[in-house]
Amino acid sequence: MDTKYKAEPYRIKVVEPIKETTKEKRIELLQNAGYNPFTLRSEDVYIDLLTDSGTGAMSDKQWGALMQGDEAYAGSRSFYRLEGVVKHITNYKHFIPVHQGRGAEQVVIPLLTKHDKMTFISNMHFDTTKAHVELAGARAIDCVIEACYDTKTYHPFKGNFDLDKLKHLIEERGADNIGGIIMTITNNSAGGQPVSMANLKATAKIANAYHIPILIDGARYAENAYFIKQREKGYEDKSILEIAQETFALADIFLMSAKKDGLSNIGGLIAIKDDEALFQACQSRVVPLEGFPTYGGMTGRDMEALAVGLQEALEEDYLSHRIDQVRYLGDRLKAMNIPIQWPTGGHAVFVDGKAFAPHIPFDQFPAQSIVNQLYIESGVRAVEIGSLLLGRDPDTKENIDTPLQLVRLTIPRRTYTQNHLDVVAEGMKKVYQNREQLKGLSFTYEPKILRHFTAKLKPL
Ligand code: F0G
Repeated sequence: MDTKYKAEPYRIKVVEPIKETTKEKRIELLQNAGYNPFTLRSEDVYIDLLTDSGTGAMSDKQWGALMQGDEAYAGSRSFYRLEGVVKHITNYKHFIPVHQGRGAEQVVIPLLTKHDKMTFISNMHFDTTKAHVELAGARAIDCVIEACYDTKTYHPFKGNFDLDKLKHLIEERGADNIGGIIMTITNNSAGGQPVSMANLKATAKIANAYHIPILIDGARYAENAYFIKQREKGYEDKSILEIAQETFALADIFLMSAKKDGLSNIGGLIAIKDDEALFQACQSRVVPLEGFPTYGGMTGRDMEALAVGLQEALEEDYLSHRIDQVRYLGDRLKAMNIPIQWPTGGHAVFVDGKAFAPHIPFDQFPAQSIVNQLYIESGVRAVEIGSLLLGRDPDTKENIDTPLQLVRLTIPRRTYTQNHLDVVAEGMKKVYQNREQLKGLSFTYEPKILRHFTAKLKPL
């Protein structure tokens, strides 16, 4: 197995100390945190792989740009700089900044929910996207290819839409009842898995035939473009920007959490290709929800940093190292026979908790049990992406089962080194060696929506 590792295409100019705790201390800390690492203090975490969202390192150019922030309430120069970059990348006519991805969702999704029997279809909805669809009174249906659920078998584009299922869903529900087709690139929830250009085109063709709006949930659109360049015939010689532009040309609306491929600590984007009426409606809605349309909840300096970050995230040197970091950690785990979503995707290694701890039933959250033990063994904080996160069916109130009970080891951008990844791999090895002793969990406190963030649990 090729574990050769691409060296960082940057050198370190500022450091942030992190500290190790003892195993005894971590056992106590986790108990106090209700067996939910979301409620740990970050200073009690040695290596934080909870998310790649807003946790990356900014470049010297971004820190320099911060000083140029124009904090005007209206008409800020920083807004126009960011707008220029967004329009260049997307070729869309309209742009509104928002404070983060879910800010974009809360503005746009209710405007597309025209009556009370509507459905949104995505390859796979991210949890806040699903939450905003449901808050708007609509239903969210995932429509990804079956291969996505088979972690063991290689497929280059496990984020692809199942095109037959998509057509069937539209026919069954009626095109007028579909609020939008959401292309989540990359498919975060199933492993940061890319969607191929061919599949995006075929999906767009179906949506166009039924006059259904197409949204791109593009938190990691640059990583998706990188995979297309690596894995899809005909794209070898195209630049990441060209591939991204070809992608945006297929859709009508772009929603982005800029905390990922914006290489920024905060920020979000709404871009609209040419729908004037929708743009005006978004402009009105953004004021009470996020802020005046030239800042939308962002500071001028953050818009400056984001304008630079969006461009840096399209650089191939940066992307090839980033994706290689994820591959390296995945290869190390695979070499220890630890089951992972294969191949590794863009922003994280996803360990298959169902195959790892088959003795724990889905509604006792096997992946959460692994997350907890990994923290105890090594001080590494990972996150469950499985039945704990999925919550309960809005109709039956039952816990939702899924074949994907995943532990996400999420790699923040430009933040950790190969040595850190080795600590993660060694920690995971210890958990795997003692996997028979892992115990399921039950709730001591279960919040009604997005329960995984604040739930309290106890081992059974
Ligand atoms: N869409 C996708 C695909 C995401 O991954 C996220 C956030 C959002 C939308 C919402 O954006 O956080 O800026 O409001 N994902 C983070 C994660 C939180 O850890 O995967 P946000």
